[in-house]
Amino acid sequence: LSDGPLTGKRVLVTSGPTHEPIDPVRYIANRSSGAQGVALARALASRGAEVVFVTGPASVAPPAGVAVVPVETACDMLAAVEAALPVDAAIFAAAVADWRVTSASDRKLKKSKDGLPVLEFAENPDILKAVSNLEQGRPSLVVGFAAETNDVLDNATAKRLRKGCDWIVANDVSEGTGIMGGSENAVTLISEAGAESWPRMAKSEVAAQLADRIATELSGS
Ligand code: C5P
Repeated sequence: LSDGPLTGKRVLVTSGPTHEPIDPVRYIANRSSGAQGVALARALASRGAEVVFVTGPASVAPPAGVAVVPVETACDMLAAVEAALPVDAAIFAAAVADWRVTSASDRKLKKSKDGLPVLEFAENPDILKAVSNLEQGRPSLVVGFAAETNDVLDNATAKRLRKGCDWIVANDVSEGTGIMGGSENAVTLISEAGAESWPRMAKSEVAAQLADRIATELSGS
């Protein structure tokens, strides 16, 4: 472990997309690369934190020096997060699927003259909300991300209250920004104190600045 301002702090980071199976060979996913989560885990570890990195099937490899817990579905991710507690801070950078297929088949679905398959969905657990609302063992700092395509500030401010987390890191992922899957990010950090818009910068730089802010926040606890 590196020595630094987060030495002695245990931090959980979720990252990547989740995959929700339809049958053994098909799944529902999203465009998250896991890049911002990987950058954050790296920045936290390099400042001395003991990092538990719970990641869905991402296209960016996890950083060295963190405890990697690979998961597939949102339900797996919730179980891995619960197993990682207690932590001093929990950062939820994963793009968790909102729904899972309840009618998932054990066998590969086949084309049939009887018609098209019908998928049934159930809502996935909201991991950020669950951890934010823990009555016992809530991390001192809970941070969520908000990928929005419109009314970023209003939506993210409402999301902070709805989820019960301390900070929301909001970003505009609308088409043309190149943010989802890209190497840069433009974020607004929303806390009880208000909203702070940061200039567009490399995801590694967003991670470095967030890790510094997290270290400052935890230094009192
Ligand atoms: O509600 P929405 O998905 O936009 O919220 C985004 C934030 O909530 C992210 O921090 C994401 O990691 C977290 N989240 C979660 N579990 C879910 C859905 C979102 O932890 N099922």
